[in-house]
Amino acid sequence: MAALVVVGSQWGDEGKGKIVDLLAKDADVIVRYQGGSNAGHTVITNKGTFIFHLIPSGILYRGKVCVLGNGVVIDPGGLIGELDHLQTQGITFGKRFVISHRAHLIMPYHKAIDKAAEQAKGARRIGTTGRGIGPAYVDKMARIGIRMGDLLNPDLFRQKVQENLVEINAFLKHIHNADGFTVDLIAKEYEAYGERLRPYIADVSVALDRAMSKKQRILFEGAQGTHLDVDFGTYPFVTSSSACAGGACTGSGVGPTKIDAVLGVTKAYTTRVGGGPFVTELQDEIGQMLMTRGHEYGSTTGRARRCGWLDSVLLRHAVRTNGLTSLAITKLDVLDGAKELKICTGYRYQGKLYKEMPADLEVLQGCEPVYERWAGWATDTTGLRAYKALPMAAKRYLRRIEELTGCPMDMISTGSKREDTIVLRNPLTTSRKR
Ligand code: GDP
Ligand code: IMO
Ligand code: MG
Repeated sequence: MAALVVVGSQWGDEGKGKIVDLLAKDADVIVRYQGGSNAGHTVITNKGTFIFHLIPSGILYRGKVCVLGNGVVIDPGGLIGELDHLQTQGITFGKRFVISHRAHLIMPYHKAIDKAAEQAKGARRIGTTGRGIGPAYVDKMARIGIRMGDLLNPDLFRQKVQENLVEINAFLKHIHNADGFTVDLIAKEYEAYGERLRPYIADVSVALDRAMSKKQRILFEGAQGTHLDVDFGTYPFVTSSSACAGGACTGSGVGPTKIDAVLGVTKAYTTRVGGGPFVTELQDEIGQMLMTRGHEYGSTTGRARRCGWLDSVLLRHAVRTNGLTSLAITKLDVLDGAKELKICTGYRYQGKLYKEMPADLEVLQGCEPVYERWAGWATDTTGLRAYKALPMAAKRYLRRIEELTGCPMDMISTGSKREDTIVLRNPLTTSRKR
């Protein structure tokens, strides 16, 4: 196996960080390919708790190369803050950190526009992380983006910022009644970032090709999740990048024929942060219980996550759009003690049954969940590492997820720590026939 993509199959926060950290032990290179510091990936080891926003979750193992691909939008100040913080925790980088020359930069005006646009939307707001993600991708597609490589050429960088500020300052002032920016301040700040990040900037596509020709294993770490994908998510309540597995290719410069497998990280229930439809959302004491037991607060913004039952309609959409080859089911322990569990198997809208995710937001917003009921278990599953130790009801619940998705599970996570995992099959070191 040369290349495995790990993606979120719901609305993010499925536990990708934990799973990627675990798999990174057997990988040589770990690559982030989309999103930016809107991501918050938590890894807990005996050295402490680490929350990664931009740096791949494999960085904790010595000698592994960590890469930010062209598809990532990078806030250089935030990235340097993250590097510095990790250095205080004893982690060194040297030649094992690489940033794509082609990755776009998040500029201070992107964050200002993100916040102003959200405020202007009022009740229709998306509930973004305010990290400037959407506006940075807008500039990329409008072909006025400024890239990592531009940081290495201060004169060109300054010229590009100056050109952009003409429209951006007018937009902020006249549309949003907000303050504008000056080229001098931005150029000074970003010149310093350029000097600091210069040693890491390289051609990622070439670097990954070299790694693969040496038979190294590449692990792609998705951020967000399938239903936040700009094309296949619950548009417009999505993020602005390709969070599905296809993004691993366009966001790193590795061709699709090089990808061997795609692992979908799936929480044993469902959560969502921010606005947008959520058919299985529970606004009752069960939802509250999931939030409390699962510590469901955003790792980036600290906002409470909305909680609900597992939704197999969402999961089937994720299996199809990502070509998932297997699942890693996380946070099973959070369901311990629940008398009864529900799994959504379809949606009902105006008397019609939907087995697949409706593309139309209005339909989706009006859908009612169709549930099947499963017995819960009273046993504590926290930290279990052997499948046979699981209570029978938990095994039935897990097998039903496999049946409904048509996708086999490779891993079951029973706690937040690295070791709290049942590994049925390592998807990076063994291949599954497709
Ligand atoms: P990510 O964005 O997909 O990496 O997920 P986050 O790190 O934002 O959120 C997942 C949270 O659940 C983190 O706090 C993890 O430490 C925690 N977590 C991961 N797996 C498990 C698990 O199996 N059980 C429990 N109780 N917590 C888990
Ligand atoms: P990880 O990688 C959960 C959500 C935001 C908002 C929407 C758009 O930790 O799973 P954005 O700032 O991206 O423009 O916000 O997407 N969102 C996430 N929700 N986990 C994430 O990342 C998220 N990244 C963005 O809450 O609803
Ligand atoms: Mg997260």
